[in-house]
Amino acid sequence: MTDPEHHYSKDGSSTLYSNDFGQFYHNPNGAVTESRHVFFDTPGLTDFLNSKHDLLSVFEVGFGTGLNFLLLCDEYLQRGLSFPLHFYSVEAFPVEPDTAASFNYQEFIVHKNIQDKIKDVFKTLTSGWNTFCLFRDQEIYLHLYIGKFEEIDSVEYPVHFIFHDPFSPEVNEELWSVETFAKLRSFSHDDCRLATYCAASKARAAMADAGWYPGRAKGALGKREMTIATLDPSSLAPFKRLNEKRLIDRLHSGDFDQ
Ligand SMILES: C[S@@+](CC[C@H](N)C(=O)[O-])C[C@H]1O[C@@H](n2cnc3c(N)ncnc32)[C@H](O)[C@@H]1O
Repeated sequence: MTDPEHHYSKDGSSTLYSNDFGQFYHNPNGAVTESRHVFFDTPGLTDFLNSKHDLLSVFEVGFGTGLNFLLLCDEYLQRGLSFPLHFYSVEAFPVEPDTAASFNYQEFIVHKNIQDKIKDVFKTLTSGWNTFCLFRDQEIYLHLYIGKFEEIDSVEYPVHFIFHDPFSPEVNEELWSVETFAKLRSFSHDDCRLATYCAASKARAAMADAGWYPGRAKGALGKREMTIATLDPSSLAPFKRLNEKRLIDRLHSGDFDQ
């Protein structure tokens, strides 16, 4: 793997371009803007943070730059939240510490020191699970698996939100399979919400076949749609529920095969 190239997306925030996958890590129209829309506001994470809970557990597929974790830490610190956060993420091809040092995300957050702490994370990673407690006064735990998602069997705290953030299905197919969504289901609370920027019918069909109820929501930055999926159809209410049976039939009849 070659180290990805640093770019600025159109809202001014850093992103990377992977020559190996032929894709940007974020929407080139705005990395921070996209992350806030897709993973915080649309699935209801922002609302979740505004009320009291015993614990928050999140699973991210594709740690990449660490942007989503950084934004979540900032939201936590801004609200002075005292319930523990367990943030699980997985990364098969971690970026070099020098690349991570070039990100400008501190310009987009209130607690600027978070960026330095995450830059330090990139200096100490080893294969398998790496666990960090980055803030002395807050129970914010980062559990970062260095290796392939396919290698992970379980998580300790069932997850409330999934940030499904691989490259697109065309180039990162293994992370959009029925097996992947079935594994994510096994990691989840009954009321979990899975969010992804992707709106491809084949990906939605794989979610449905794994027992998720996919729905459509407005996409970020001019993209028409994104996807939210839940394990209980009644919690899809704010979104337009898709016909999961029809998606499953199409998947099984080979409708999505080229
Ligand atoms: C779109 S980027 C992630 C963006 C990231 N969430 C961010 O904010 O920077 C997708 C990431 O998934 C990683 N990846 C691809 N295939 C993987 C696999 N099988 N297991 C774990 N990570 C994988 C890539 O190396 C890349 O960092």
